[in-house]
Amino acid sequence: MECVTYGTAGMVTTREFISMACWHLLTHPELAARYRAAEQQERLASLAEIIRLEPVVGHLYRRMQQPVTVTDAGRRHTLSPGDLVDICVRQANTDPDTAGAQPHDLCPGRDMPGADASGLSFGDGAHKCPGRPLALLESDVLLTKLLGHRPRIVREPRLGWDDLVAGYTLRDFELAFDAPA
Ligand code: HEM
Repeated sequence: MECVTYGTAGMVTTREFISMACWHLLTHPELAARYRAAEQQERLASLAEIIRLEPVVGHLYRRMQQPVTVTDAGRRHTLSPGDLVDICVRQANTDPDTAGAQPHDLCPGRDMPGADASGLSFGDGAHKCPGRPLALLESDVLLTKLLGHRPRIVREPRLGWDDLVAGYTLRDFELAFDAPA
């Protein structure tokens, strides 16, 4: 069971993220140049910022066990036992109260008071993703190696949707590597 959970929770998600991060890097030459030159800590900050904007898991669901009152933009809401809470990760991650004035801009190392640099893309609380460091590290290892070979895009990925995780899929992304001169 553990292998199946880790396989589905870890591999499917990370696979999509690596393609998305690669797409961002190859379509933003300044970001790619900075990524190539940066130390690992800064590269991981770039990946955390990319996944904040491009969460692989789009919604997190929780069934309330106890009453909870939350305040949003000055309004109080009471959640009762049995209520289903649907957290829209993409919107939560770009909330200007946390991400700042230009929440949709890709800005590695931005100030995220009270939140993780990747927002809620890896969840939060008791069941937050235990694979976060591994996912970012393995993405970094692959992308660093890949960018070192100066790839160019032959075909942009086809964007799809996976209802199970309420997140994107990227398919048929094709890169080419030119022979060194
Ligand atoms: C980019 C890659 C990944 C993303 C976006 C991601 C996202 C998430 C999210 C949002 C949750 C929380 C679900 C919830 O609260 O309902 C979660 C849980 C989990 N993730 Fe990941 N994950 C990734 C990679 C990994 C990797 C590499 C592993 C394992 C090596 C992993 C293992 C798990 C497990 C076991 C849970 C369940 C934790 C629990 O319920 O206590 N994930 N993941």
